[in-house]
Amino acid sequence: MSDMEFERKLGFQTRAVHKGNAVDKETGAIKRPITMANSYELPYDPTEVNWSSASGNLYTRNGGSNQKYLQEKLASLEGGEDCVVLASGVAALSGLFFALLESGDHVIFSSITYIAVYRLLNELFNNKFKVETTIVDTSDIESVKAAIKPNTKLIHIETPGNPTLSISDIAALAELAHKNNILLSVDNTFASPYNQRPIELGADFTVESLTKYINGHGDAMGGAIIGKTQYLDIIRAQSQVNLGAAISPFNAWLIMRGSVTLPLRMKQHNENAMKIAQWLETQPNVSFVAYPGLKSSKGHHIAQKQMSGFGGVLSFGLNADHDTHNQFVSKLNIITSAVSLGHDESLIVFIGENDERQYLYPNEFHNGFFRMSVGIEDSEDLIDDLSQALKSVGL
Ligand SMILES: Cc1ncc(COP(=O)(O)O)c(C=O)c1O
Repeated sequence: MSDMEFERKLGFQTRAVHKGNAVDKETGAIKRPITMANSYELPYDPTEVNWSSASGNLYTRNGGSNQKYLQEKLASLEGGEDCVVLASGVAALSGLFFALLESGDHVIFSSITYIAVYRLLNELFNNKFKVETTIVDTSDIESVKAAIKPNTKLIHIETPGNPTLSISDIAALAELAHKNNILLSVDNTFASPYNQRPIELGADFTVESLTKYINGHGDAMGGAIIGKTQYLDIIRAQSQVNLGAAISPFNAWLIMRGSVTLPLRMKQHNENAMKIAQWLETQPNVSFVAYPGLKSSKGHHIAQKQMSGFGGVLSFGLNADHDTHNQFVSKLNIITSAVSLGHDESLIVFIGENDERQYLYPNEFHNGFFRMSVGIEDSEDLIDDLSQALKSVGL
């Protein structure tokens, strides 16, 4: 059996443990070490070296071994040909857009995305680089079809989308994109490759904020783009080497370690979030719950088709005024008020009725709402915490 055949037979959990790791030849250690040196010894005649090469063993911004090991694992977990790992999820998103888009190109992107995508495409790329942008509800395939122009180069979607958990049909959008000679990129951060693998569904690129589920411990930042080497080499040359978005070897090592338990953590996130979403639905003063695992959720049918679990993030609203939302959060004892998601601990953010992108969200979100990242604690404790906080603000 070839190495490739052997690799294909291995399950997701086995690859999460073993891919990218090997016995260190120098010491015999069974975990590869961190290499923090900035520079590597030059050959006898350094004038032959390409200072801008991204092949590594020159200078850490040109690529390092810990970054390479992590790339090996993530390409395997996402089912892609290649992977490039950068300093943050936003570095990965901007690196992808920078590599693909030229002045005069048109990009369609989801109305529900992480805020930086909105800033990057709708403000920076549009104003500074004259890239045309159209914001579309990508959960509606007909709207995407209608937005396509002869110069459309890229469709960028987020599913589930931050913060409303909107679901877009990856396979249908990949078919539509490719029929029109357009590339499709999917931000998979909310799902993680354990629950959803966009490349296997036909997407050209998967983007991950490694800061979230893949690291999983809330203590290191990173981002990844998975796709074909022909495009990823451009991102390495531009964003990593020349724009300087290289990941620190220490962060790459931390994320490598965190990712070993991704499958176990995701099982618990999926289970806890489903229980909490179902419990919230029974609360009389909860105005709505958005979670793709709920039958009542708009995107449930498509989520069931393309996800094997529904992740740990949900949103919900209260029948309450602005200040009662803040009071409710202040009464929580276990769940922490902080941005980010995919950490081991549960986090909650109040997104107010005055949020600048409220106009892009469905009506039920207009009174303000919470985005909760359900952690891996005991679900009973999390439900008790939410319950006592609701009671203490009279809801
Ligand atoms: C869906 C999504 N993509 C990308 C990012 C950006 O990742 P990072 O904070 O690692 O730059 C975030 C951050 O919250 C996110 O929620």
